[in-house]
Amino acid sequence: MRIGVLTGGGDCPGLNAVIRAAVLRGTREWGHEFVGYLDGWKGPLENQSRELTVDEVRGILAEGGTILGSSRTNPDSDDGGMERVIGNVRAAGIDGLIAIGGDDTLGVARQLTEQGLGVVGVPKTIDNDLGATDYTFGFDTAVNIVMEALDRLRTTGASHHRALVVEVMGRHAGWIALHSGMAGGADLILVPEREFDPGEVCAHVDACFEAGVAPLIVASEGAVPKQGSEVTLTEGTDAFGNVRLGGIGGWLADRIGEVTGRETRSVVLGHLQRGGTPTAFDRVLATRLGYRAIEAANEGEWGMMTTLRGTAIELAPLADALDESKTVPADRLVEAEFGYPA
Ligand code: F6P
Repeated sequence: MRIGVLTGGGDCPGLNAVIRAAVLRGTREWGHEFVGYLDGWKGPLENQSRELTVDEVRGILAEGGTILGSSRTNPDSDDGGMERVIGNVRAAGIDGLIAIGGDDTLGVARQLTEQGLGVVGVPKTIDNDLGATDYTFGFDTAVNIVMEALDRLRTTGASHHRALVVEVMGRHAGWIALHSGMAGGADLILVPEREFDPGEVCAHVDACFEAGVAPLIVASEGAVPKQGSEVTLTEGTDAFGNVRLGGIGGWLADRIGEVTGRETRSVVLGHLQRGGTPTAFDRVLATRLGYRAIEAANEGEWGMMTTLRGTAIELAPLADALDESKTVPADRLVEAEFGYPA
């Protein structure tokens, strides 16, 4: 078989581990050939690809990013784009694709499958917001990066008796904020799933200082103040209709400074959370997903995606898997609150 591989959407640590696993197993066990499409769906849309051999994937397990490049190209927003993708893939003698991506990339995979092109999906996102799988690879690495930043910020905040607001990624799901905040002992965690009252946040900041703690607040980029709206960096959306979230940390730090009179700083961790080498957890998860994805392609299980259920790697139909997005349930927030100082 000849299999095309692509990585779409925001990059995340572990993408190369999936590519490597699929190519190693597919080549050695079944003698398949691989073509790497460049920059997500832009690759098959514009016929940009490279050969992917065992030699080319050697040594990439620990490398961050993706050797294939990525983009948020949506072939469905181009006139005749989907037909062009199918035509180009067929003309290259490719039997099917492995698409590694989040809900946008996998949504295109689902449409292509419905139109007769075989695609197996592999879920990825640092946001961990895909309902079909217990964890997405990239998330654990992002959480560890934020946790380390929180440990560092804790000492400078305490030394200067300052409140610190740390803005983290996650889109409309608060998983990164929740897990990193719990791991870093945050004094308050703000997530998109529950609107926050700025007045209550300021009162909590005062109470923390009174309890002898310089507060460290983790705010998810999608967190929304009561009677307010999401804070965005730019107007408009990308090709999949996503807004660019960002700015809530700075907004809140200004508000805390004004209301409490306490010195407050904000830190935006931004794309640091997506860069660099994956954790052991993400390397293992990504590798297992890659092994399973090529097995699914080998068996012609098109229209399916690999998922982690408990400790098992399973397959789920792309159609079902993408309908559910996974957000932080209320009881997980209550649990995190037991650690707050005041
Ligand atoms: O979905 C992953 C993610 O990192 C989000 O957490 C964030 O909102 C977005 O991508 C940032 O996208 P970009 O890389 O296009 O700025």
